Amino acid sequence: MEKIIDESKQGESLVLENKKENTRKLFIESYGCAMNFSDSEIVASILTNEGFNTTQRLEEADLVLVNTCSIRDKAEQTVRKRLEKYNAVKRDHNPKMKVGVLGCMAERLKTKFLEEEKIVDLVVGPDAYKDLPNLLAEVDEGRDAINVILSKEETYGDISPVRLNSNGVTAFVSITRGCDNMCTFCVVPFTRGRERSRNPQSIIEEVNDLWNRGYKEITLLGQNVDSYLWYGGGLKKDFVKASDMQKATSVSFSNLLELCAKAQPKMRIRFSTSNPQDLTLDVVETMAKYNNICNHIHLPVQSGSNRILKAMNRLHTREEYMELINNIRRIIPNCAISQDMIVGFPTETEDDFQDTVSLMDYVKYNFGYMFTYSERPGTMAGRNMKDDVTEPIKKRRLQDIVDLQREHSEIKTKEWLGTTVEVLIEKESKKSNIQWSGRTPQNIVAVFPKDNYKIGDFVNVKVTNCTSATLIGEAIGLSENN
Ligand code: SAH
Ligand code: F3S
Repeated sequence: MEKIIDESKQGESLVLENKKENTRKLFIESYGCAMNFSDSEIVASILTNEGFNTTQRLEEADLVLVNTCSIRDKAEQTVRKRLEKYNAVKRDHNPKMKVGVLGCMAERLKTKFLEEEKIVDLVVGPDAYKDLPNLLAEVDEGRDAINVILSKEETYGDISPVRLNSNGVTAFVSITRGCDNMCTFCVVPFTRGRERSRNPQSIIEEVNDLWNRGYKEITLLGQNVDSYLWYGGGLKKDFVKASDMQKATSVSFSNLLELCAKAQPKMRIRFSTSNPQDLTLDVVETMAKYNNICNHIHLPVQSGSNRILKAMNRLHTREEYMELINNIRRIIPNCAISQDMIVGFPTETEDDFQDTVSLMDYVKYNFGYMFTYSERPGTMAGRNMKDDVTEPIKKRRLQDIVDLQREHSEIKTKEWLGTTVEVLIEKESKKSNIQWSGRTPQNIVAVFPKDNYKIGDFVNVKVTNCTSATLIGEAIGLSENN
């Protein structure tokens, strides 16, 4: 999920409208995936009720919270560097400042954090945010506080998140938490716990509320959205024990997509992330049926080699993945497809890597996110497999597929030349203050002169030029979606 976050947003501190009566100041920043950014909005909502207003100035913060990521070692190092920065600010400018660590690193390192990092007063795992008021009371009394208990039920469905640093147009709506897939390289099942689905009614209420406040696009979030299943709460594996009534009224991911699409027929709907082993064709058919569900599927495959897929505990073959791609393209010919890839997984040979290259050649993804393998303590691969592909080989393989993806992106982006696409305007273009920037349903960025259009408009844009990843054009009128 981390890919749907604009890189420039990583680590940005978050602000929201302040309440006059609140006197304490909160500085909160997020790293990692979209779920973390969404969780920070839940945390800010909880703390607003505890007398906090947000600030962007570390020097004046009473409480600093950092929402952390453990997915790769580099992500953890970034957070350690931030802790050094907080330490310096506390020492030089703000001795009363308290520091809390939230999210996946909190869950992974637990009390070790309090021992290793003297600056940290508070450690809170992803399922314990409702306990923040109690934990802060402990901190106020001068004690370190920690809650890293993972839950089988918590979905924060009853908390209406405040929208932090929002463009007022696009928002995340979380629908599942945790992951049961146990890919052998991945730390998420350990840091975010068992998979649970959120009550569909609270999801629809949030979508309606967002629409009423002017939002035009939502992204339904989960580590593995296709395995969404609501039958009254509880773990998916317990569905077998559910009553006939519960089974008859259960809501699958394709049902949920349909409910959202119908609830707000003009709201654009996206979702992330899909896992190939759980994406069923009824989801693709539902996408095809509703105009407002965007034609883009983020479908990480991680490797093109059957042997490596097996070692990663990805429960499908290369051939099954190709068949899924063929089916998606048969049902939705212009569907954009994007990937995540890992190179240098333990035992990956040159032949395995060439299988990844040939799979990419077969699919020709619109875009993708590629990583070198980073061993994570506690995962199956971390415990049982030697990290035996050398760093230079990992780097070379990464560069090879990054270059290949750029070629494919360029081919795919060029296909839009001369066509008219619908763009939802999100913000000013980073490169020019006389241009708007937005995205097509396929999630391709498009820029064009502002004319008299405004943020939040759906505009038809004639594509006249492009770079490898961006469409360049001119608006020819509002689309009928407005
Ligand atoms: N299902 C999640 C995946 C989260 S991790 C989602 O919602 O996106 C995002 C990506 O990070 C994965 O798809 C994988 O490509 C990469 N990743 C995860 N663990 C990794 C590791 N140990 N080393 C390198 N990359 C990793
Ligand atoms: Fe991680 Fe695999 Fe789940 S990549 S988040 S264990 S689907």
